[in-house]
Amino acid sequence: QTKKERRATMATTTLTALVEEKTLRPSFVRDEDERPKVAYNQFSSEIPVISLAGINESEGRRSEICRKIVESCEDWGVFQVVDHGIEPNLISNMTRLAREFFALPPEEKLRFDMSGGKKGGFIVSSHLQGEAVQDWREIVTYFSYPIRNRDYSRWPDKPEEWKEVTKTYSEKLMGLACKLLEVLSEAMGLEKEALTNACVDMDQKVVVNYYPKCPQPDLTLGLKRHTDPGTITLLLQDQVGGLQATRDGGKTWITVQPVEGAFVVNLGDHGHFLSNGRFKNADHQAVVNSNYSRLSIATFQNPAPEATVFPLKIREGEKAVLDKPITFAEMYKKKMGRDLELAMLKKLA
Ligand code: SIN
Ligand code: FE2
Repeated sequence: QTKKERRATMATTTLTALVEEKTLRPSFVRDEDERPKVAYNQFSSEIPVISLAGINESEGRRSEICRKIVESCEDWGVFQVVDHGIEPNLISNMTRLAREFFALPPEEKLRFDMSGGKKGGFIVSSHLQGEAVQDWREIVTYFSYPIRNRDYSRWPDKPEEWKEVTKTYSEKLMGLACKLLEVLSEAMGLEKEALTNACVDMDQKVVVNYYPKCPQPDLTLGLKRHTDPGTITLLLQDQVGGLQATRDGGKTWITVQPVEGAFVVNLGDHGHFLSNGRFKNADHQAVVNSNYSRLSIATFQNPAPEATVFPLKIREGEKAVLDKPITFAEMYKKKMGRDLELAMLKKLA
């Protein structure tokens, strides 16, 4: 068997585990301290839902919207937006096509298998290298910005409309993300373009998550607890529920109430550092359940690898949260290294 064949066999086995088995394989069972503490459908409305209607007016609604966004970023690093100008039709096409993709037979999905370092495609149960426990999810991912990073040979060719719809979706979400970054820049007392410019040549990656029904959802996670590395993330989720956030270091968790047509906006590590810690990098995870499969689409807006990570503004009396400027690539490598080290320690313990 070649390496490629071995990978394909492994992926098929895992897919079978996700779809057919009635008890969890040990590779999906989390340690007790990592397991879900709150049910997927025990919704909380603590995370603000903010209407962006009127955000372009120079006065009136804009200042009110900005105030709400900033408060949520200081508090949670998460908020939801509605009236954001992304057409409902585009959103429903995107989710419909994504569902169609995951419903394809395994061999069709595995034609786009990205394990082994490919730039985009399909993965079953991605997890950190070296980490024992697997996530209860399948993903399909593509790199959409900068445009030169697009490798259309890694974008699924089924369903047929996928490429066209995802292209439009990426472009519209880039526009929405930039609008939100303007608000955050202004809140920091900087010019509108400050955060976008700090990203140098903004990178966008879209990850479509499919969480199959799970026979023992209390023992596992769809996606383990993490903060996103980038600037901001725009997450579209269906009405099932499963996204959870915490703001007290994991003592209490809340399940974010799904809102039809809304985007959940997360601040990532880059956004956190640039604001000198004023804006939280949202600590979150996804749980699964035995009643429904769930779909979510995360659009990550990241700085270019060579972009500098350092506070754009340090307010009087504050200390910088970083000792010295580093590049985003270095920041990312450090983060992954730390996660891997923690996972290894856990394995040894
Ligand atoms: C993510 O954190 O990228 C996805 C979370 C979710 O599926 O709700
Ligand atoms: Fe995330």
